[in-house]
Amino acid sequence: MQSNLFLSPLAGYTNLPFRLTVRELGGLGLATTDLVNARSLLEKKPKALQLIQTCPADRPLAVQLFGAVPGEMRDAAAYLQSAGISSVDINMGCPVRKVCRVGGGSAMMTELQKTAQIVRGMVQAVHIPVTAKMRLGWDDENLTAPDLARALEDAGIAAIFVHGRTRQQGFGGAVNLAGIRAVVQAVRRVPVIGNGDVTTPQAAKMMLEQTGCAGVSIGRGAFYDPWIFSRARRFLATGELPPEPGFEERVKVMCRHLDLMVGVFGEEHGCRMFRKIGPWYARRFGPANEFNKRIVTLSNKSQFQEILAGYVRWRRQFLDGQGRLKPNYRPPPLVASFMREEGAAAPGGQIPVPKGPVEIW
Ligand SMILES: Cc1cc2nc3c(=O)[nH]c(=O)nc-3n(C[C@H](O)[C@H](O)[C@H](O)COP(=O)(O)O)c2cc1C
Repeated sequence: MQSNLFLSPLAGYTNLPFRLTVRELGGLGLATTDLVNARSLLEKKPKALQLIQTCPADRPLAVQLFGAVPGEMRDAAAYLQSAGISSVDINMGCPVRKVCRVGGGSAMMTELQKTAQIVRGMVQAVHIPVTAKMRLGWDDENLTAPDLARALEDAGIAAIFVHGRTRQQGFGGAVNLAGIRAVVQAVRRVPVIGNGDVTTPQAAKMMLEQTGCAGVSIGRGAFYDPWIFSRARRFLATGELPPEPGFEERVKVMCRHLDLMVGVFGEEHGCRMFRKIGPWYARRFGPANEFNKRIVTLSNKSQFQEILAGYVRWRRQFLDGQGRLKPNYRPPPLVASFMREEGAAAPGGQIPVPKGPVEIW
Protein backbone atom coordinates (compact mmCIF):
# COMPACT_ATOMS: atom_id res chain seq x y z
CA MET A 1 0.00 0.00 0.00
CA GLN A 2 1.24 3.49 -0.84
CA SER A 3 2.28 5.52 2.15
CA ASN A 4 0.02 8.37 3.29
CA LEU A 5 3.03 10.13 4.81
CA PHE A 6 4.39 13.00 2.75
CA LEU A 7 7.44 15.27 2.75
CA SER A 8 6.48 18.96 3.04
CA PRO A 9 8.25 21.57 0.94
CA LEU A 10 11.02 23.37 2.82
CA ALA A 11 12.57 25.99 0.55
CA GLY A 12 16.33 25.64 0.58
CA TYR A 13 16.23 22.11 1.97
CA THR A 14 13.91 19.72 0.13
CA ASN A 15 16.24 19.37 -2.83
CA LEU A 16 17.05 16.14 -4.68
CA PRO A 17 19.80 14.95 -2.28
CA PHE A 18 17.56 15.35 0.76
CA ARG A 19 14.62 13.69 -0.90
CA LEU A 20 16.78 10.73 -1.92
CA THR A 21 18.29 10.45 1.56
CA VAL A 22 14.83 10.22 3.10
CA ARG A 23 13.43 7.93 0.43
CA GLU A 24 16.25 5.41 0.97
CA LEU A 25 15.14 5.05 4.60
CA GLY A 26 11.62 4.07 3.54
CA GLY A 27 8.07 4.94 4.49
CA LEU A 28 7.74 8.12 2.43
CA GLY A 29 4.97 8.53 -0.14
CA LEU A 30 4.90 11.71 -2.20
CA ALA A 31 7.69 14.26 -1.73
CA THR A 32 7.42 17.88 -2.83
CA THR A 33 10.08 20.23 -4.17
CA ASP A 34 10.79 23.70 -2.77
CA LEU A 35 8.40 26.22 -4.23
CA VAL A 36 9.14 27.27 -7.80
CA ASN A 37 8.11 30.51 -9.46
CA ALA A 38 5.86 29.54 -12.41
CA ARG A 39 7.14 32.34 -14.62
CA SER A 40 10.79 31.55 -13.92
CA LEU A 41 10.10 27.96 -14.85
CA LEU A 42 8.50 28.94 -18.15
CA GLU A 43 11.46 31.20 -18.83
CA LYS A 44 13.73 28.22 -18.07
CA LYS A 45 15.70 30.20 -15.54
CA PRO A 46 18.59 28.00 -14.31
CA LYS A 47 17.55 28.40 -10.68
CA ALA A 48 14.02 27.18 -11.41
CA LEU A 49 15.31 24.25 -13.46
CA GLN A 50 17.64 23.27 -10.66
CA LEU A 51 14.74 23.25 -8.20
CA ILE A 52 12.91 20.67 -10.31
CA GLN A 53 16.00 18.50 -10.83
CA THR A 54 15.02 14.89 -10.20
CA CYS A 55 15.82 11.27 -11.13
CA PRO A 56 13.86 8.01 -11.46
CA ALA A 57 14.48 7.04 -7.80
CA ASP A 58 12.87 10.32 -6.75
CA ARG A 59 9.25 9.27 -7.35
CA PRO A 60 6.45 10.05 -6.74
CA LEU A 61 7.37 13.74 -6.88
CA ALA A 62 5.25 16.89 -6.74
CA VAL A 63 6.60 20.26 -7.84
CA GLN A 64 5.22 23.18 -5.89
CA LEU A 65 4.39 26.25 -7.99
CA PHE A 66 3.62 29.77 -6.95
CA GLY A 67 2.28 32.59 -9.04
CA ALA A 68 -0.92 34.49 -9.66
CA VAL A 69 -1.16 34.74 -13.44
CA PRO A 70 -3.60 32.03 -14.60
CA GLY A 71 -1.92 31.48 -17.99
CA GLU A 72 1.50 31.10 -16.42
CA MET A 73 0.28 28.67 -13.77
CA ARG A 74 -1.50 26.62 -16.44
CA ASP A 75 1.48 26.51 -18.80
CA ALA A 76 3.90 25.71 -16.00
CA ALA A 77 1.67 22.80 -14.93
CA ALA A 78 1.58 21.51 -18.52
CA TYR A 79 5.35 21.79 -18.74
CA LEU A 80 5.79 19.81 -15.50
CA GLN A 81 3.48 17.11 -16.79
CA SER A 82 5.52 16.81 -19.98
CA ALA A 83 8.68 16.56 -17.83
CA GLY A 84 7.25 13.46 -16.10
CA ILE A 85 6.44 15.05 -12.74
CA SER A 86 3.80 13.11 -10.75
CA SER A 87 1.67 16.04 -9.54
CA VAL A 88 1.62 19.82 -9.25
CA ASP A 89 1.11 21.55 -5.94
CA ILE A 90 0.03 25.20 -5.65
CA ASN A 91 1.48 27.31 -2.85
CA MET A 92 -1.36 29.15 -1.15
CA GLY A 93 0.07 29.49 2.27
CA CYS A 94 3.41 31.11 1.97
CA PRO A 95 3.52 34.21 4.13
CA VAL A 96 6.75 35.56 2.65
CA ARG A 97 6.23 39.11 1.45
CA LYS A 98 7.86 38.52 -1.93
CA VAL A 99 5.28 35.83 -2.73
CA CYS A 100 2.25 37.70 -1.33
CA ARG A 101 3.15 40.83 -3.24
CA VAL A 102 2.51 39.15 -6.58
CA GLY A 103 -0.79 37.78 -5.30
CA GLY A 104 0.38 34.20 -4.65
CA GLY A 105 0.91 32.70 -1.20
CA SER A 106 -1.51 33.53 1.62
CA ALA A 107 -3.00 36.46 -0.29
CA MET A 108 -4.66 33.85 -2.49
CA MET A 109 -6.86 32.75 0.37
CA THR A 110 -8.56 36.12 0.52
CA GLU A 111 -9.47 35.97 -3.15
CA LEU A 112 -11.41 32.79 -3.34
CA GLN A 113 -12.97 32.98 -6.76
CA LYS A 114 -9.86 34.20 -8.49
CA THR A 115 -7.94 31.33 -6.96
CA ALA A 116 -10.56 28.78 -8.00
CA GLN A 117 -10.27 30.15 -11.53
CA ILE A 118 -6.51 29.56 -11.58
CA VAL A 119 -7.02 26.01 -10.34
CA ARG A 120 -9.70 25.32 -12.95
CA GLY A 121 -7.35 26.43 -15.72
CA MET A 122 -4.59 24.17 -14.46
CA VAL A 123 -6.85 21.16 -13.90
CA GLN A 124 -8.20 21.44 -17.44
CA ALA A 125 -4.71 21.65 -18.92
CA VAL A 126 -3.20 18.51 -17.34
CA HIS A 127 -4.18 14.97 -16.39
CA ILE A 128 -1.78 14.70 -13.44
CA PRO A 129 -3.25 15.68 -10.04
CA VAL A 130 -3.23 19.35 -9.07
CA THR A 131 -3.07 19.88 -5.30
CA ALA A 132 -2.99 22.93 -3.02
CA LYS A 133 -1.06 23.79 0.13
CA MET A 134 -2.51 26.33 2.53
CA ARG A 135 -2.54 27.59 6.10
CA LEU A 136 -5.72 27.81 8.17
CA GLY A 137 -6.19 31.42 7.14
CA TRP A 138 -4.84 34.90 7.60
CA ASP A 139 -5.50 35.11 11.37
CA ASP A 140 -7.84 33.66 14.01
CA GLU A 141 -10.70 35.92 12.87
CA ASN A 142 -10.25 34.83 9.27
CA LEU A 143 -10.03 31.05 9.19
CA THR A 144 -10.68 30.85 5.47
CA ALA A 145 -9.23 27.41 4.79
CA PRO A 146 -12.56 25.50 4.94
CA ASP A 147 -14.20 27.87 2.42
CA LEU A 148 -11.16 27.84 0.20
CA ALA A 149 -10.97 24.04 0.35
CA ARG A 150 -14.60 23.74 -0.73
CA ALA A 151 -14.12 26.18 -3.60
CA LEU A 152 -11.02 24.29 -4.72
CA GLU A 153 -12.84 21.00 -4.56
CA ASP A 154 -15.44 22.39 -6.94
CA ALA A 155 -12.62 23.58 -9.19
CA GLY A 156 -11.20 20.04 -9.43
CA ILE A 157 -8.35 20.03 -6.94
CA ALA A 158 -7.07 16.49 -6.20
CA ALA A 159 -5.87 16.96 -2.59
CA ILE A 160 -5.36 19.66 0.00
CA PHE A 161 -2.38 20.04 2.30
CA VAL A 162 -3.07 22.21 5.32
CA HIS A 163 -0.58 23.54 7.86
CA GLY A 164 -2.60 23.95 11.06
CA ARG A 165 -1.54 27.53 11.76
CA THR A 166 -2.60 30.94 10.51
CA ARG A 167 -0.36 33.28 8.59
CA GLN A 168 -0.32 35.60 11.59
CA GLN A 169 0.94 32.78 13.81
CA GLY A 170 4.02 32.31 11.69
CA PHE A 171 5.59 29.28 13.34
CA GLY A 172 4.57 30.23 16.88
CA GLY A 173 2.01 28.68 19.18
CA ALA A 174 0.52 25.26 18.78
CA VAL A 175 -0.78 23.60 15.64
CA ASN A 176 -4.58 23.76 15.69
CA LEU A 177 -5.93 20.25 15.11
CA ALA A 178 -9.55 21.45 15.29
CA GLY A 179 -8.71 23.88 12.49
CA ILE A 180 -7.44 21.02 10.31
CA ARG A 181 -10.53 19.02 11.20
CA ALA A 182 -12.75 21.88 10.01
CA VAL A 183 -11.05 21.66 6.61
CA VAL A 184 -11.55 17.88 6.50
CA GLN A 185 -15.25 18.39 7.26
CA ALA A 186 -15.66 21.17 4.71
CA VAL A 187 -14.89 18.98 1.70
CA ARG A 188 -16.91 16.07 0.35
CA ARG A 189 -14.38 13.67 -1.16
CA VAL A 190 -11.03 15.37 -1.65
CA PRO A 191 -8.32 14.00 0.66
CA VAL A 192 -7.00 16.51 3.18
CA ILE A 193 -3.44 16.05 4.39
CA GLY A 194 -2.63 17.52 7.81
CA ASN A 195 0.66 19.28 8.48
CA GLY A 196 2.55 21.03 11.25
CA ASP A 197 4.97 20.03 14.00
CA VAL A 198 4.76 16.29 13.44
CA THR A 199 8.09 15.23 14.92
CA THR A 200 7.19 11.79 16.24
CA PRO A 201 5.18 8.76 15.11
CA GLN A 202 2.79 9.41 18.02
CA ALA A 203 2.12 12.91 16.73
CA ALA A 204 1.34 11.55 13.25
CA LYS A 205 -1.18 9.14 14.78
CA MET A 206 -2.79 11.83 16.89
CA MET A 207 -3.15 14.19 13.94
CA LEU A 208 -4.75 11.44 11.84
CA GLU A 209 -7.12 10.42 14.62
CA GLN A 210 -8.17 13.84 15.83
CA THR A 211 -8.62 15.53 12.47
CA GLY A 212 -9.81 12.65 10.28
CA CYS A 213 -7.21 13.71 7.71
CA ALA A 214 -6.23 11.21 5.01
CA GLY A 215 -2.50 11.60 5.53
CA VAL A 216 0.18 13.60 7.26
CA SER A 217 2.86 15.77 5.73
CA ILE A 218 6.13 16.26 7.59
CA GLY A 219 8.69 19.01 7.06
CA ARG A 220 11.13 19.90 9.82
CA GLY A 221 10.53 16.63 11.64
CA ALA A 222 12.22 14.86 8.72
CA PHE A 223 15.40 16.81 9.42
CA TYR A 224 15.59 15.73 13.03
CA ASP A 225 14.60 12.26 12.13
CA PRO A 226 14.85 11.21 8.47
CA TRP A 227 13.52 7.81 9.70
CA ILE A 228 10.27 9.37 10.85
CA PHE A 229 8.38 8.10 7.80
CA SER A 230 9.38 4.46 8.26
CA ARG A 231 8.99 4.68 12.06
CA ALA A 232 5.56 6.27 11.78
CA ARG A 233 4.45 3.73 9.16
CA ARG A 234 5.37 0.90 11.50
CA PHE A 235 3.74 2.58 14.47
CA LEU A 236 0.52 3.25 12.57
CA ALA A 237 0.36 -0.30 11.22
CA THR A 238 1.33 -2.26 14.34
CA GLY A 239 1.26 0.08 17.35
CA GLU A 240 4.89 -0.80 17.92
CA LEU A 241 7.17 2.23 18.30
CA PRO A 242 10.60 1.73 16.74
CA PRO A 243 13.32 3.50 18.75
CA GLU A 244 15.00 6.64 17.44
CA PRO A 245 18.20 5.65 15.62
CA GLY A 246 21.43 5.98 17.59
CA PHE A 247 24.43 8.18 16.94
CA GLU A 248 26.29 5.83 14.56
CA GLU A 249 23.25 5.40 12.35
CA ARG A 250 22.64 9.17 12.30
CA VAL A 251 26.23 9.78 11.27
CA LYS A 252 25.96 7.18 8.52
CA VAL A 253 22.88 8.85 7.05
CA MET A 254 24.41 12.31 7.42
CA CYS A 255 27.45 11.11 5.42
CA ARG A 256 25.17 9.65 2.77
CA HIS A 257 23.32 12.96 2.58
CA LEU A 258 26.59 14.84 2.08
CA ASP A 259 27.68 12.38 -0.64
CA LEU A 260 24.41 12.97 -2.47
CA MET A 261 24.82 16.75 -2.08
CA VAL A 262 28.29 16.54 -3.58
CA GLY A 263 27.04 14.27 -6.36
CA VAL A 264 24.29 16.71 -7.34
CA PHE A 265 25.86 20.11 -6.62
CA GLY A 266 29.60 19.41 -6.90
CA GLU A 267 32.09 19.20 -4.04
CA GLU A 268 32.54 22.85 -3.23
CA HIS A 269 28.95 24.01 -3.58
CA GLY A 270 27.55 20.82 -2.04
CA CYS A 271 29.82 21.22 1.01
CA ARG A 272 28.94 24.89 1.38
CA MET A 273 25.24 24.03 1.30
CA PHE A 274 25.87 21.35 3.90
CA ARG A 275 26.99 23.98 6.40
CA LYS A 276 23.37 24.62 7.30
CA ILE A 277 22.29 20.98 7.03
CA GLY A 278 24.87 19.38 9.34
CA PRO A 279 23.53 21.24 12.42
CA TRP A 280 20.07 19.74 11.88
CA TYR A 281 21.51 16.27 12.28
CA ALA A 282 23.57 17.48 15.23
CA ARG A 283 20.46 18.51 17.17
CA ARG A 284 19.97 14.85 18.08
CA PHE A 285 23.68 14.10 18.70
CA GLY A 286 23.70 15.40 22.29
CA PRO A 287 26.33 18.07 23.01
CA ALA A 288 27.39 19.32 19.58
CA ASN A 289 29.07 22.72 19.95
CA GLU A 290 32.33 21.33 18.64
CA PHE A 291 30.61 20.00 15.53
CA ASN A 292 28.48 23.09 14.87
CA LYS A 293 31.40 25.45 15.32
CA ARG A 294 33.45 23.72 12.66
CA ILE A 295 30.80 22.62 10.17
CA VAL A 296 30.13 26.25 9.21
CA THR A 297 33.57 26.34 7.58
CA LEU A 298 33.02 23.19 5.50
CA SER A 299 34.37 23.36 1.95
CA ASN A 300 35.43 19.84 0.99
CA LYS A 301 34.84 16.20 1.88
CA SER A 302 38.17 15.48 3.49
CA GLN A 303 37.62 18.43 5.80
CA PHE A 304 34.26 16.89 6.69
CA GLN A 305 35.98 13.66 7.71
CA GLU A 306 38.37 15.64 9.92
CA ILE A 307 35.54 17.58 11.53
CA LEU A 308 33.62 14.39 12.17
CA ALA A 309 36.62 12.51 13.62
CA GLY A 310 37.45 15.46 15.88
CA TYR A 311 33.85 15.66 17.02
CA VAL A 312 33.60 11.93 17.75
CA ARG A 313 36.72 12.24 19.95
CA TRP A 314 35.36 15.34 21.74
CA ARG A 315 31.97 13.70 22.29
CA ARG A 316 33.55 10.79 24.23
CA GLN A 317 33.61 12.88 27.41
CA PHE A 318 29.80 12.72 27.49
CA LEU A 319 29.58 8.91 27.17
CA ASP A 320 29.16 6.26 29.82
CA GLY A 321 31.01 2.93 30.01
CA GLN A 322 28.72 1.39 27.37
CA GLY A 323 29.34 4.19 24.90
CA ARG A 324 25.92 5.79 25.41
CA LEU A 325 25.36 9.44 26.21
CA LYS A 326 25.17 9.98 29.97
CA PRO A 327 21.53 10.64 30.87
CA ASN A 328 21.87 14.39 31.48
CA TYR A 329 23.40 14.89 28.02
CA ARG A 330 20.73 13.05 26.09
CA PRO A 331 18.58 15.28 23.89
CA PRO A 332 15.08 15.59 25.37
CA PRO A 333 12.37 13.59 23.62
CA LEU A 334 10.64 15.46 20.83
CA VAL A 335 7.04 16.45 21.62
CA ALA A 336 4.75 18.01 19.02
CA SER A 337 3.26 21.40 19.98
CA PHE A 338 -0.23 19.90 20.01
CA MET A 339 0.79 17.08 22.36
CA ARG A 340 2.32 19.28 25.05
CA GLU A 341 0.47 19.86 28.27
CA GLU A 342 -1.18 23.25 28.51
CA GLY A 343 1.39 25.87 29.47
CA ALA A 344 4.33 23.46 29.20
CA ALA A 345 7.39 24.90 27.54
CA ALA A 346 8.73 23.14 24.49
CA PRO A 347 11.59 20.88 25.60
CA GLY A 348 14.77 22.40 24.24
CA GLY A 349 12.75 25.26 22.73
CA GLN A 350 10.36 25.21 19.81
CA ILE A 351 11.18 23.53 16.56
CA PRO A 352 13.44 26.18 15.12
CA VAL A 353 12.78 27.82 11.81
CA PRO A 354 16.15 27.77 10.08
CA LYS A 355 17.82 31.13 9.62
CA GLY A 356 18.23 32.41 6.11
CA PRO A 357 16.11 34.07 3.46
CA VAL A 358 13.10 31.93 4.41
CA GLU A 359 13.11 32.88 8.06
CA ILE A 360 9.54 34.11 8.00
CA TRP A 361 7.74 31.16 6.45
C1 LIG B 1 12.72 26.63 6.05
C2 LIG B 1 11.30 26.41 5.63
C3 LIG B 1 10.97 26.50 4.28
C4 LIG B 1 9.66 26.29 3.86
N1 LIG B 1 9.36 26.34 2.53
C5 LIG B 1 8.09 26.12 2.11
C6 LIG B 1 7.76 26.12 0.71
O1 LIG B 1 8.61 26.28 -0.17
N2 LIG B 1 6.47 25.92 0.38
C7 LIG B 1 5.49 25.71 1.32
O2 LIG B 1 4.32 25.53 0.96
N3 LIG B 1 5.78 25.66 2.63
C8 LIG B 1 7.05 25.85 3.04
N4 LIG B 1 7.35 25.80 4.36
C9 LIG B 1 6.31 25.35 5.30
C10 LIG B 1 6.39 23.83 5.49
O3 LIG B 1 6.10 23.13 4.30
C11 LIG B 1 5.40 23.33 6.57
O4 LIG B 1 4.11 23.68 6.19
C12 LIG B 1 5.73 23.91 7.93
O5 LIG B 1 7.11 23.91 8.18
C13 LIG B 1 5.02 23.13 9.04
O6 LIG B 1 5.34 21.77 8.99
P1 LIG B 1 6.54 21.11 9.87
O7 LIG B 1 6.31 21.54 11.28
O8 LIG B 1 6.37 19.63 9.64
O9 LIG B 1 7.83 21.66 9.33
C14 LIG B 1 8.65 26.01 4.81
C15 LIG B 1 8.99 25.93 6.16
C16 LIG B 1 10.31 26.11 6.58
C17 LIG B 1 10.63 25.99 8.03
